[in-house]
Amino acid sequence: MTDPKTPSGTDPKTPYGTEARPTYGTEARPTSGTDPTTTSGTEARPTSGTDPTTTSGTEVTTDPVLLSVEDLTVEYATHDGPFRAVDRMSFRIERGGSLAVVGESGCGKSTLARALVRLLKPVSGRIVLDGTDIAALPERRLRPLRRRVQMVFQDPYGSLDPHLTAQQIVAEPLRLAGVVGRAERARRAAELIEQVGLPSAALTRRPSDFSGGQQQRIGIARALASRPELLVCDEATSALDVSVQAHVLNLLRELQAETGIAYLVIAHNLAVVREISTDVVVMRAGRTVETGPTAAVLASPADPYTRALRRAALDPTAIHGVKPRRVPEGSTT
Ligand SMILES: Nc1ncnc2c1ncn2[C@@H]1O[C@H](COP(=O)(O)OP(=O)(O)OP(=O)(O)O)[C@@H](O)[C@H]1O
Ligand SMILES: [Mg+2]
Repeated sequence: MTDPKTPSGTDPKTPYGTEARPTYGTEARPTSGTDPTTTSGTEARPTSGTDPTTTSGTEVTTDPVLLSVEDLTVEYATHDGPFRAVDRMSFRIERGGSLAVVGESGCGKSTLARALVRLLKPVSGRIVLDGTDIAALPERRLRPLRRRVQMVFQDPYGSLDPHLTAQQIVAEPLRLAGVVGRAERARRAAELIEQVGLPSAALTRRPSDFSGGQQQRIGIARALASRPELLVCDEATSALDVSVQAHVLNLLRELQAETGIAYLVIAHNLAVVREISTDVVVMRAGRTVETGPTAAVLASPADPYTRALRRAALDPTAIHGVKPRRVPEGSTT
């Protein structure tokens, strides 16, 4: 369905290294082109002296809706013509809310996530972030908004620049967000690394020195560095073993209680979905097949597909494409 020969429209010079490119690497590109920058905060205004990361949430607003997605459609250009990976999806996330997105492999979850953080440009629809439709905003106007929505990528290794130490990786968004002083950035990076449960010795190591689960935690620390209002987690805990997964889920919940951060969590694991989300969207072939409060949807799924997905949570072989949780070999996560 996709054509692996078409060049990607993404920019390899992003601070996320290879991860900022679509999973299919040098393959088909979205028909509308990809965004040349990432969500890492590359765009945050570098104000002098002040720390914009401390100003989040100071905007006075009464609208409880942080993100409103309306009729969102994302396509990839392939040799066979446009391939519609996300098809007229609509949902909302409230401030401090948690929405889970589930669905079989290839149904469009990562594509949706990348469009939300504008690594991909949708062909149509609206992505209204705090009153501003960012779906078609030019990069210049996206810049001040990028810090506010961050993403943890499905492929942890591909998302980390192999040349940088963990400390540099986590400190980078701080620099871009205008946190002044190398020592202060190093201090904050160390704090974040500790928060995600990695030892301080991790600070000087490079991505290849870590297990998949540890790389994922560095990705989480980096995403949290600029204190986003919305964190998009694409299978952020899939590579973690059970105890580390519990640690990270606790961390996310605590952060939410403290800061009011909102989450969009993509997960195959329905236990994770139950833990972290209040609402759920079930996707199939780019579309919403069912949505509602997580407890209600999982307790009595209306859609046959959701029922199958629930069975698959007990038996990962029960439905094609649903992955059992991966624990990297030799991982000490
Ligand atoms: N760069 C691309 N070019 C063409 N098609 C693509 C590209 N990236 C993804 N696709 C296709 O879009 C569809 C959705 O892919 P996506 O990665 O969003 O699925 P997913 O739900 O995240 O899957 P998984 O659960 O395996 O991570 C798939 O059919 C995939 O083959
Ligand atoms: Mg995916």
